[in-house]
Amino acid sequence: MNRVHRIGVCIVVILLGDLAAGTHLWAQQTATGKRGMVVSADSLASTVGLEILKNGGNAVDAAVGVGFALAVTFPVAGNIGGGGFMVIRLADGRTTTIDFREKAPSAARRDMFLDKNGHFVSSLSQKGTLASGVPGSVAGLLRALDQYGTMKRGAVLDPAIREARAGFVVRNRFFARELADGFGVFKRFPEALKVFSRNQLPLGLGDTLRQPDLANTLEMIKSQGREGFYGGVTAERIVAEMKRYGGIIGSDDLKSYSAVERPPVKGSYRGYDFYSMGPPSSGGAVFVEMLNILEAFDLKKSGRGTVATSTLLAETMKVAYADRAEFLGDPDFVDVPVDRLVSKDYASIRRKKISPRRATPSSKISAGAIPRSEPTETTHYSIIDRWGNCVSVTTTINDFFGCGVMVEGAGFFLNNEMDDFSAKPGTPNQFGLMGGEANAIEPGKRMLSAMTPTVVLRDNKPFMVLGTPGGSRIITTVLQIAVNVIDHGMDLQKAIEAPRIHHQWRPDTLFYEKGGMPSQLRRGLSARGFALVELKGEYGRAEGILVEQDGSYVGVTDRRGNGAAVGY
Ligand code: DON
Repeated sequence: MNRVHRIGVCIVVILLGDLAAGTHLWAQQTATGKRGMVVSADSLASTVGLEILKNGGNAVDAAVGVGFALAVTFPVAGNIGGGGFMVIRLADGRTTTIDFREKAPSAARRDMFLDKNGHFVSSLSQKGTLASGVPGSVAGLLRALDQYGTMKRGAVLDPAIREARAGFVVRNRFFARELADGFGVFKRFPEALKVFSRNQLPLGLGDTLRQPDLANTLEMIKSQGREGFYGGVTAERIVAEMKRYGGIIGSDDLKSYSAVERPPVKGSYRGYDFYSMGPPSSGGAVFVEMLNILEAFDLKKSGRGTVATSTLLAETMKVAYADRAEFLGDPDFVDVPVDRLVSKDYASIRRKKISPRRATPSSKISAGAIPRSEPTETTHYSIIDRWGNCVSVTTTINDFFGCGVMVEGAGFFLNNEMDDFSAKPGTPNQFGLMGGEANAIEPGKRMLSAMTPTVVLRDNKPFMVLGTPGGSRIITTVLQIAVNVIDHGMDLQKAIEAPRIHHQWRPDTLFYEKGGMPSQLRRGLSARGFALVELKGEYGRAEGILVEQDGSYVGVTDRRGNGAAVGY
């Protein structure tokens, strides 16, 4: 593919706080700019992306830099030991995606997480190295850089290496709390204790986090490219961890891993074009199916946060999640009927299943006829550059510090993405998600995801770049933000801040965020037959960019997290 052609005019400044390297800045929830915008879950990482843009890099260069930086500055979810998805919309009109989802190792077996009586043992798919899929992040980021970036590896990796080696001061309480919460896991797999604790206590506010082993691993990636991770000493170290904790990733699995470029899933909604992630993520297909179903209803008229609109949203979610459980899986292994799922025709058939005035019991909903939950360890970042190139990336190690194991001598956590397979079709995973045959474990297969990195266009020009973590709730979060902006005319900050609801077909429960549903709405929905459950906390940490009519960029990080929007 050709390098991205760069043209552009410079305009000025805005809203940059203290950019001193080596400190976590105070979160900057919104920013505006004309030439570039980076929104991520961590201020240092956002700043790295902004510096790359200012140095002449394009949005892909910045995305790769942010991806590696998050592995250092936001280790709870940023990663080189996990995987993810990148949606790229280039200013010249091309749109593509990079799938760097983890894969099941070649020794994986369908029943590897079942005991001898055939019962699912969730501890095996969630902690320890048997839970790890073959990591994809390094292959994905380097592939994006090679094909669509303009800078050399060093230029995008050096900031991450610097932060890892010199260290940075823990200055935000969210990060300090995450390190404290992770302490139990670190004690079980003590390599991480060396990095994240001092005098037997987790690092806290004011302490400096230095990660020399991770710096060395990143140096190897810088000098050797993918070989610096999938071969040589890093690969040996990963395999040693497998031996120590009963995992099955072998050196051939690492050597043969490759990221795949796939076409995006495309949808349209009230005149806007949506480009999102296709299988092995369910995100794009389920998101577009929901938009298509909702398009027939006048949500503007029925109003935001009303019983009528909430009923329509919940009913739509149920139907689409039933399809998710049945049809979605790795397209290299199963035939996923994406075209049909995202077609307007199919939406009009599925729409008949939903009732605008009453909760339809989930038992009365099953997947359509087509021929033939949350810990917090995913993160999203959105970037746009001065040329209008947009990049939307969601990446994850799945669970809190992944499978808990930090690779000794290499300084990074391994994922526990194997839990995203349906270990026993019909039995829910940690997010309560049901899966079927299409997502059963097979060697070399990618586990189904809900990640929904998305780019929205209006009149063929960038309008919104959006995504979020949140496990099974990712897709419904992105849906509600889109509806808030497009139907309810909210600005991006309000659209992201608004309380959310979530239904995923099974369990037959309508979830809402803690304190996020007024009693009148609760009463109205209960009267319609919805079983309501208040979540213990909030969910999702969306990171979005909206392009205003005059072409300026507005970046917003979710108040639920402690990210930063930075622009110029
Ligand atoms: O790929 C997926 O759908 C999940 N592994 C995402 C996990 C997640 O979002 C957890 N953090 N919030």
